Amino acid sequence: SCCASEPSLRRRPPYVPNRIADPSYVRIFDTTLRDGEQSPGASMTSKEKLDVARQLAKLGVDIIEAGFPAASKDDFEAVKAIASEVGNAVDDDGYVPVICGLSRCNENDIRRAWEAVKYAKRPRIHTFIATSAIHMEYKLRMSKEKVIDTARSMVKFARSLGCEDVEFSPEDAGRSDREFLYEILGEVIKAGATTLNIPDTVGINLPSEFGRLIADIKANTPGIENVVISTHCQNDLGLSTANTIEGARAGARQLEVTINGIGERAGNASLEEVVMALRCGAHVTGNLYTGINTKHIFLTSKMVEEYTGLQLQPHKALVGANAFAHESGIHQDGMLKHKGTYEIIAPEDIGLERTNEAGIVLGKLRYAIFVSLEHIYLHGSYTP
Ligand code: KIV
Repeated sequence: SCCASEPSLRRRPPYVPNRIADPSYVRIFDTTLRDGEQSPGASMTSKEKLDVARQLAKLGVDIIEAGFPAASKDDFEAVKAIASEVGNAVDDDGYVPVICGLSRCNENDIRRAWEAVKYAKRPRIHTFIATSAIHMEYKLRMSKEKVIDTARSMVKFARSLGCEDVEFSPEDAGRSDREFLYEILGEVIKAGATTLNIPDTVGINLPSEFGRLIADIKANTPGIENVVISTHCQNDLGLSTANTIEGARAGARQLEVTINGIGERAGNASLEEVVMALRCGAHVTGNLYTGINTKHIFLTSKMVEEYTGLQLQPHKALVGANAFAHESGIHQDGMLKHKGTYEIIAPEDIGLERTNEAGIVLGKLRYAIFVSLEHIYLHGSYTP
């Protein structure tokens, strides 16, 4: 496989509510069932959502954002079912994922989120309000003072319901004024927020810029040392994975991602890319690691592709049909001599089976990537 130290195979540290037990451990927050489902045409039935949540738990996801309970009765019921079942299925290591519900900063949304997630062993309410000038003026029609006041009182309200794990997101943080961000984040920490999620909602940040944003928030927000910093990067410029990795390098210890990168518009950072990039880039990231059991990646990807109907492009990193196919004769020749010549990750590491030495891989669900032996003969790179 790709790197000698295999940091992702390290066991995850014991769960400590709202704290990071090991500074190198990065929590994976999967929002396939919430932001992912916001992709046009991606809606899933409640049964399919429950299946996906079970699979995410198997994958080793730390936090499952199961939906937006106030959005509809169906969403509410799906989140409640996931909280009741997956949120109580403690695994052999004593681990059970946090189940999270999204809410705007208003009492009705927050109450609905709590009513749905409270059945989980580790319930979380995630509440958000926009903080960029353009969103505050045109969408919310609220002053900065009103936005701060609303955020503070709604985080307090969430805590008052009995929820000990409250995440707050300043929506469109990537375009928000820095000083305003430090102020509102400091206020919600005082009000009881335990995770601060920093979204690049419109996917406009470049990697160095997003890394700087996280570093600045870490350096300037009062009380930040008591909470977990999180990233949420949209993919409008195709930079969501790079931005997420830069966020982790700058100090974020929760990363919000989706399977196959599905989500609003051009989607989100993809779980498989972020997890494998952290694993392959451990020499750059200072050995950051996740609790993801990468052998379940491929099957999870196929399940989400099938349930949502959102088909992967063949060249999608890691899980696309061509991701491990070696087409040219020169590449096949190299592969036959040493797999490391053109392969940075062994397909087996993400749950694919290799069926021939030149890189034919065959996965579960009868999924096949073919490089024919005949083709190898034609290119003259293989002599039996
Ligand atoms: O993109 C975004 O800003 C969001 C927040 C609710 C986290 O999805």
